[in-house]
Amino acid sequence: MSNEILNLYSMKKLTVLSIVLFAGIGTTIIINGCATSQAVAAKSGAQLWGENCLRCHNAPAPADYSDAQWETIGMHMKLRANLTDDETKKIVAFFKSAN
Ligand code: HEC
Repeated sequence: MSNEILNLYSMKKLTVLSIVLFAGIGTTIIINGCATSQAVAAKSGAQLWGENCLRCHNAPAPADYSDAQWETIGMHMKLRANLTDDETKKIVAFFKSAN
């Protein structure tokens, strides 16, 4: 094989390789995205409360506040704890059901 043909050949191989690689990375990201949302979906409000509300202060007990207060606190701590809508809803629902 002449050098030119060899170069062309390896460039083609490289292109194919990067397409395969990018497709693989893309698929991994999509699968991981689904896995994350499924992991959240599988978690209960009580679990999310235990995992998220202890980081900065003692986790408050459900009975510490009224339903209306939990709604407001949910909004505050959603921002502080960087929670998703889903997580916040679940945690607030857990507090309201247990206070
Ligand atoms: C990133 C740190 C952080 C995380 C995580 C966090 N908090 Fe807080 N929390 C604070 C700070 C700071 C305050 C006091 C100042 C304020 O009210 O914003 C506070 C205050 C509170 C109060 C007192 C009432 C109020 O609204 O000020 C409650 C109740 C509370 N947090 C509940 C929670 C719950 C429930 C979670 C989990 C969803 C949580 N916190 C997660 C930082 C955090």
